[in-house]
Amino acid sequence: MVKNSLSWILILFLLVSLLNNCLNSKVQKEINQKNTFLDNLRKLYSSGDSSQWPKPVLDPESAPTFVEIGHLPDVEFPKDNPYSSEKELLGKTLFFDPRLSKSNQIACASCHDPELGWGDSRTVSFGHDRQLGTRNAMTILNAAFAKSLFWDGRATSLEEQSQMPIQDQREMSEHIDIAAGKIAKIKGYEILFEKAFGDKTVTKDRISKAIATFERTVKSSPSKFDAFIDGKSEVYTNDELMGLHLFRTKAQCINCHNSGYFSNNRFENVGTSLLGEKGEDLGRYAVTKVADDAGKFRVPGLREVSKTAPYLHNGYMTSLKEVIEFYSKGNPEYSQKRSTIYEGITLHSQKSGMVRMLELSDEEISQLEAFLRTLSSKTKKIDLPELPK
Ligand code: HEC
Ligand code: HEC
Repeated sequence: MVKNSLSWILILFLLVSLLNNCLNSKVQKEINQKNTFLDNLRKLYSSGDSSQWPKPVLDPESAPTFVEIGHLPDVEFPKDNPYSSEKELLGKTLFFDPRLSKSNQIACASCHDPELGWGDSRTVSFGHDRQLGTRNAMTILNAAFAKSLFWDGRATSLEEQSQMPIQDQREMSEHIDIAAGKIAKIKGYEILFEKAFGDKTVTKDRISKAIATFERTVKSSPSKFDAFIDGKSEVYTNDELMGLHLFRTKAQCINCHNSGYFSNNRFENVGTSLLGEKGEDLGRYAVTKVADDAGKFRVPGLREVSKTAPYLHNGYMTSLKEVIEFYSKGNPEYSQKRSTIYEGITLHSQKSGMVRMLELSDEEISQLEAFLRTLSSKTKKIDLPELPK
């Protein structure tokens, strides 16, 4: 009897350990497979040749204009406003000079602070008399690569853009001619204008050109992402690597956030316009008056994005995780009526078909976030210009 049960126990023990072995080797096999997959992915993405990367998952809508992500190209300066270091210095000085504002207190740099990723880290900005605006200040980093400026693209060049905040009642609130007149009266500016433009005449046009020239030099230096795709295969963690892959495949971010600037420079509706709600923003419609453009915003570039919280045109989201979770749910526009009546016209917010339920796991969400963080470069220390007297 005892002998019998002992042999049963022995058999049972053997069976269990056999099963355990099988399971272990299955788990081991899976781990090996995963490692081989990651090793392969790492090799392809850090090969230095993006044509070897896995194919991106694109919607037919984005395919015709698609440009692969990669390094930022060189900045092009317009023919009628070529670069010179003297013009850059003048532009930088003006950018930091509060005397362009009515109160003599607010400079461009008040809302585009180099220590805050060239933004202001606020939900929406405040300007003249501490009035609040309605939109989040965009970084001016890499603005040279934006085909149009502002969340709704209402300025078509940096030259045109630069006069707008000076005149905006809620920002610097100064008439541009008065601003130019004030600068012309400052003796110390004469030499700067002369070096930049050949003579000391101050005009609003020259102010714009100088500021725009300076802004074109505010460009990201190479990030961890740039080093990785150039062949430094060891700089990425597995999570960052998987995040890059998800960005181009399952999560389909690359439909809109593409090219070296990480934006297709188009206007898209991702379901953030709050039409019919408090805080509604018509977005691109306000510029074009085309009904389809209601609720569309310019696709922002994602370089340096970890430095430019809060996010979206209205600064509603405080963290990258929140933004990615929102995308994962397909940007459902929960409580919105999604339509509004504006100047007698009913406008609907029609979300892009490229925004859909992604059902990302928590792990995938954190991998995407880890990848986005590799798009930031080291913050450069800026030597503040001396303001002329
Ligand atoms: C009071 C805060 C404030 C001041 C001052 C200010 N800006 Fe801005 N800036 C903003 C906000 C807010 C936006 C986004 C506005 C929008 O999209 O409607 C913006 C957008 C921009 C953009 C667009 C970037 C892009 O990618 O499209 C540029 C360029 C810019 N500002 C440059 C300047 C310059 C140059 C000055 C000084 C002449 C200036 N700003 C002064 C708050 C400010
Ligand atoms: C259909 C085009 C489209 C797709 C697809 C898309 N985005 Fe966006 N993204 C936008 C637009 C447009 C905005 C600006 C929306 C706003 O301001 O209300 C934006 C804003 C963002 C922002 C905030 C940036 C800032 O400076 O405020 C982040 C971060 C972002 N997207 C990441 C992603 C990620 C990650 C994915 C993939 C999961 C993704 N996007 C997919 C178009 C898109």
